[in-house]
Amino acid sequence: MLNINVNELGSFATKLAKEAGRLSIVLREKPLELQTKRSASDLVTFVDKYIEEYLINEILKKYPDHGVIGEEGTFKKDISNTETVWIIDPIDGTTNFVHDRGHYAISIAIVHKDIELIGIVYDPIHDELFYGEKDKGAFYNDKKIEITSKSSIQESLIGVIMFWDNPKTKEQMDSRIIKLARDSRGLRINGCASLDICHVALGRLDAYISAILQPWDFAGGKIFLEQAGGLVTHIGGDKINIKSQGSIVACNPGIQKKLLSILEN
Ligand code: IPD
Ligand code: CA
Ligand code: CA
Repeated sequence: MLNINVNELGSFATKLAKEAGRLSIVLREKPLELQTKRSASDLVTFVDKYIEEYLINEILKKYPDHGVIGEEGTFKKDISNTETVWIIDPIDGTTNFVHDRGHYAISIAIVHKDIELIGIVYDPIHDELFYGEKDKGAFYNDKKIEITSKSSIQESLIGVIMFWDNPKTKEQMDSRIIKLARDSRGLRINGCASLDICHVALGRLDAYISAILQPWDFAGGKIFLEQAGGLVTHIGGDKINIKSQGSIVACNPGIQKKLLSILEN
């Protein structure tokens, strides 16, 4: 038995994701105070920071003993002994947000005693909510969904990121990605990992592959997609620790074997 009210937690987290989305649209009208982090293409705006602070304040007001792993590092306390941990990305797809392209999201995952309980990804521009809850399933705007199985790579559209960001990764992965581009229906680089992972559940993509992602980029999407019947592993096929960074292959179950073998060769 979980010593936590999952229904209440899920409704609260959904409300926060939607309010954060609304804030992102309102605040986008102000000067963004653009800064770079690790590289010139790694952007952050005052909106990312504002929303992270907003989410953390609201979480702690209601659940003072919960912990947070957030992209902007606003939560400073040690979470090694914390039972319930939120993994949040206030704006996933900041570059899209800065360029006013849409395709960004608020991503929230809630992990309780290492159980991956709730995954929420909210696309505020399209008002699309992706909600996954352990033992309950996956919901797209409140409608229960399950992934439709696909078995052919040739008929698959695949989201990738690995052409940019990390020159070393680019060298290691290029030949495999080129093979995938030839073998599949096509590749897409969309710039928002959490949404791309969720889109796999709806068949808008059939897989999403990234050589490296942080927990806040994939955690919400991973829980949602798995609840819909999708599969999420590392590139070698290994199980993912949701609190650690690593490569990601999120896909339709029918193409996983073939996809992993292309990526491993
Ligand atoms: C980024 C997006 C992007 C992925 C990058 C992430 P951010 O997150 O998810 O799709 O390729 O690796 O860092 O910085 O926009 O939150
Ligand atoms: Ca991100
Ligand atoms: Ca972010």
